[in-house]
Amino acid sequence: MTESQLHLANVKRSGEILAAALAGRAPKIAIILGSGLGGLADRIERAVTVPYAELPGFPVLTVMGHTGALVAGLLNGVPVIVLKGRKHFYETDDPYPLKTMVRTLRAVGVETLFLSNAAGSLRASIGVSQLMLITDHINFLGLNPLTGANDESFGPRFFGMSDAWDPQLSAKISAAAAQEKIPLHRGVYLAFRGPSFETPAEIRMAQIWGADAVGMSSVPECLIARHCGLKVVGVSCITNMGAGLSDEQLTHAHTLENAAKGAADFERLVSAAVPLLAS
Ligand code: HPA
Repeated sequence: MTESQLHLANVKRSGEILAAALAGRAPKIAIILGSGLGGLADRIERAVTVPYAELPGFPVLTVMGHTGALVAGLLNGVPVIVLKGRKHFYETDDPYPLKTMVRTLRAVGVETLFLSNAAGSLRASIGVSQLMLITDHINFLGLNPLTGANDESFGPRFFGMSDAWDPQLSAKISAAAAQEKIPLHRGVYLAFRGPSFETPAEIRMAQIWGADAVGMSSVPECLIARHCGLKVVGVSCITNMGAGLSDEQLTHAHTLENAAKGAADFERLVSAAVPLLAS
């Protein structure tokens, strides 16, 4: 079997397993939780948990702070699927675990993918533990998960990214933030490959390029999702100022600690947003 045939088989099988676990629930929204934001999964009612290990082709996770499980149930009365943990491109160049995850969601009827991540701020006005609505992105990963043979059953070879971060659905997230009185910045997210944090010179470059926050995720997920016709929205939880913009030393432990501080607002925002996104 070729890699792409195996992938196709994995999506089919994982879709069947997930559909059986959903037992008639039909979530149209899936939420991928970023580093330190896993607490949202505890808000899910009537939860059914499926470990990634039971879904063929799903990522096998290695980084601390990321556990691999899918939780389906109700968030604020709305059927959702929450994904705890994903594979980053600093862990592997293999795009298939992410592709399997996103395309399996589509296979079970998901229409909107809500991405979240921990990110470094490039603007003095966007502070630590605050939230930023992702309005656009810059792919500086040095790769695109969709290179190589294209499977037309998922999506077309070439596709536009003009409205990749859905403006109408994003407006609903802004409305939810206003309703909850949660400050929500707006900005462009630039993905570096990692695993090193950036140098101060790289941060200055990203600022000149028009980015407002930097991280190591979400861009591949967005590309795979847009390719197969899912709508995408996203929120960054700011865990630190970009390198050189403060005296702080960047560490993963620090990222998780500060993500936890922003997590309460994040959870409240997503809970308030899902009924609007579903309507
Ligand atoms: N850079 C890259 N990724 C990150 C950062 C950062 O400053 N903070 C959290 N994830």
